[in-house]
Amino acid sequence: MRGDEAVAYAGPALVVGVVAGDAPLDGPVASVDAALDGTISRLRENGELSSLGDMAVLQTFGRLPSGRVIVVGLGDAAKLTVAGLRRAAAIAARTVGKAHLEGYASTVYGHQALSPRDATQAIVEGSLLGLYRFARYRKSENGAVGEMALLPGALDRTAVEEGVRRGREIAAGVMLARDLINEPSNVLTPTELARRARDMAAAQGLEFMQLDVAAMRELGMEALLGVASGSDEPPAFMVLRYGTAGTGTKPLGLVGKGVTFDSGGISIKPAENMHKMKGDMSGAAAVLGAMRAIAGLKPGRPVTAVIPATENLLGGRAQAPGDIVRAMNGVTIEVINTDAEGRLILADALSWAVREGLAPLVDVATLTGACNVALGPHYSGVFSNDETLAAQVLAAAAATGEKMWRLPLDPAFEEQIKGEHADILNSGGRAGGAITAAMFLQHFVDSTPWAHLDIAPTAWSDKDEGENSKGGTGVAVRTLIALAEEDARG
Ligand code: BES
Ligand code: MN
Ligand code: ZN
Repeated sequence: MRGDEAVAYAGPALVVGVVAGDAPLDGPVASVDAALDGTISRLRENGELSSLGDMAVLQTFGRLPSGRVIVVGLGDAAKLTVAGLRRAAAIAARTVGKAHLEGYASTVYGHQALSPRDATQAIVEGSLLGLYRFARYRKSENGAVGEMALLPGALDRTAVEEGVRRGREIAAGVMLARDLINEPSNVLTPTELARRARDMAAAQGLEFMQLDVAAMRELGMEALLGVASGSDEPPAFMVLRYGTAGTGTKPLGLVGKGVTFDSGGISIKPAENMHKMKGDMSGAAAVLGAMRAIAGLKPGRPVTAVIPATENLLGGRAQAPGDIVRAMNGVTIEVINTDAEGRLILADALSWAVREGLAPLVDVATLTGACNVALGPHYSGVFSNDETLAAQVLAAAAATGEKMWRLPLDPAFEEQIKGEHADILNSGGRAGGAITAAMFLQHFVDSTPWAHLDIAPTAWSDKDEGENSKGGTGVAVRTLIALAEEDARG
């Protein structure tokens, strides 16, 4: 039987998964358990492998050709989800990474609860993301794992191969986002972000276009230019297109906040944690990561990405609190807090996207600390002016295991951002700060169906956990891919 390829595997480590309960083991884990004289079943009987993510590392001492067997608990079969399986695979992969092994093989597990394709995809995504490290600037590549082999066992080959292909494309998108987020701001300037976007687009066969500062002036993007005026680095405005040539459907528009460093500007931030503001382009990174995967997965619907990028610094030409700028759509903004810069650059990017006819629009931004206060570190905030789109975003998020929670848009909040000397203020104060930021953005989308994802709570992780690694998480990449894969609305 093909399940025995696990028993024949002769590398440093073999990963198997085991569901909780007392049902007899089946598939590869059963053969491995038999070769290990029932150790896995006995551990399970003792309650050692009862929860999702529980681990046991077993030395085989010659009972199997593989040096070690790494057993990961999957919890109750009935409760196993794609997200849970991804998480279990990431935990197993990280254990392999910590053991400094040159390579390993994983069986496909979790097929008791999920289709072979989905189980494989989740394991591939989880393994790649769990092994992810940002090691460009390290002397030694400690903990890098050489290669992971996947053992399909008796499962349908075509389904497993499809799962591998999808898992790799999606993980590559998330890892691109993480690489961009983790890159320090002295390297990843707006110009460098645009260069990387251009290179990715060329490699993936996406159309790429960039506006220079003269074009931004011409278009009247004073909100973006106002933020950029505090820095010697020029801003960048990028557009990437997938599948837009000759289709009747309006492209889905993805807009990502690309502040490559946010010092707060003249309304400067406290020093503590300011280094994390190199990650203030996580929305842009998510959009670029999603576009990379979209180019690989080739959904039927056209998608256009729009990315405004700038630093937010305090140079001699920096905008000051009280300054008034006019966004591309004509709305005037009183900049009462230069640290509310994300909404300013999105004002012009959303105006551009509306004029371009993109619909629906989804923007992704590390927009407010207030969203973190409201939802805590596990949920991203979702705002939308369209019930259908809101439902699609939440469904895409749920399907891919990215936690998101809808917060309200309500005209009652307009009062807080009503301008004194201009149409609107760029800050509504502390109360409902994530909501007033979203209300601000709404002034730039007209009647286009639009959703805003505030990923300030989730874009950055302070520790390795599940499929997330310390630093940039690449959150929203998977949700955006799933949205793009939905059929365009009629
Ligand atoms: N980039 C920040 C938001 C942020 C904070 C992201 C913490 C990730 C972690 C944004 O530009 C910002 O500074 N927002 C202000 C808005 C306020 C001045 C109205 C904030 O949240 O304090
Ligand atoms: Mn800011
Ligand atoms: Zn910011």
